[in-house]
Amino acid sequence: MHVTIHDVAARAGVSPATVSLVLNGRPCRVSENTRQRVRQAAQELGFRSAAPRPLVGILLPDISNLFFSSIGQAFLLEARAQGNDAIVMVHGDQPGQDLANLDTLLSRGVGGVVMVRSARTTPEEEDTLREKILKSRIPVVVMDRKMDIPNVKSVLLDNREGARMAVRYLLEQGHTRIGCITGPLEDVVCRERLLGYQDALEEAAIAYDESLICQGDYRPEDGVKYLPYLLGKSVTGIFCFNDMIALGIYTGCRAYHLRIPADLSVIGYDGIPFCETLDVPLSTVEQPVEEMGRAAATLLKQMMYQPQCAQDRLFLPSLQIRASTASPADPSRR
Ligand code: RIB
Repeated sequence: MHVTIHDVAARAGVSPATVSLVLNGRPCRVSENTRQRVRQAAQELGFRSAAPRPLVGILLPDISNLFFSSIGQAFLLEARAQGNDAIVMVHGDQPGQDLANLDTLLSRGVGGVVMVRSARTTPEEEDTLREKILKSRIPVVVMDRKMDIPNVKSVLLDNREGARMAVRYLLEQGHTRIGCITGPLEDVVCRERLLGYQDALEEAAIAYDESLICQGDYRPEDGVKYLPYLLGKSVTGIFCFNDMIALGIYTGCRAYHLRIPADLSVIGYDGIPFCETLDVPLSTVEQPVEEMGRAAATLLKQMMYQPQCAQDRLFLPSLQIRASTASPADPSRR
């Protein structure tokens, strides 16, 4: 009978990750007694470790969105450089799927997980995720969408500051009616970006008009859908909570024969690769995805082998002004 790491873990009463760390001689926070119990279980069962490379997992929402695929790519390359194999799983922001995927990763005996949870995780689902992570006793790095969990470290962006930079720029260009198309507002990232939008308006002493806020789903369809509504509100600029939504604005403007930026300014968020290659290159709030992906792999490695060194990481976005933003065309529309 083939003896697996799970058999040894069950026999020794520890997690598969602990068995892997002990048998591979990796530093980990278990007593000598536990180490001995693991070695004895492995010996009694005749476990033969094929000395597999440690396995880590990354859980992403949607790799059709170049933001997440760029994050995943940077993570995987860094994990491989560290000598780890990696599994990527995609939950698609589907209800409960991030939990199901986490279960799968844990059942495969991963030694650690980087997780971007769903944008629609309900408070109840977040509690369940939190319990699952705490019970798993393996290192977890939360990325992009904050979760407050003891001993979990995070790689995050200052989303509020990024939104403030974008809207402040449009205001400085002379826009006073700025539409906003968000992602799911139950998502902490979106709530932070909306606060940044409001901060910039307040700094400029411009009243916040909730009728200019459209809740989307981080998809191009949102831009196409909300463009006519926002034009009807006489906006001269639109702040999109990601570049995919901004793509939809471009599509809608073509249909309405509107010119960007002559008739409408557009600014996105994320800084995914196509922004520069559009006919009218997109102004956007760029997230340092390469750095963030590498940082997640490094932080996870620290949590697995040198937990005393592991520290949360908070990155700053940068404003990339290109051709999609300008002063409002018609002063009477300011
Ligand atoms: O494009 C997807 C969005 O969801 C990004 O802005 C990222 O921050 C995530 O929260």
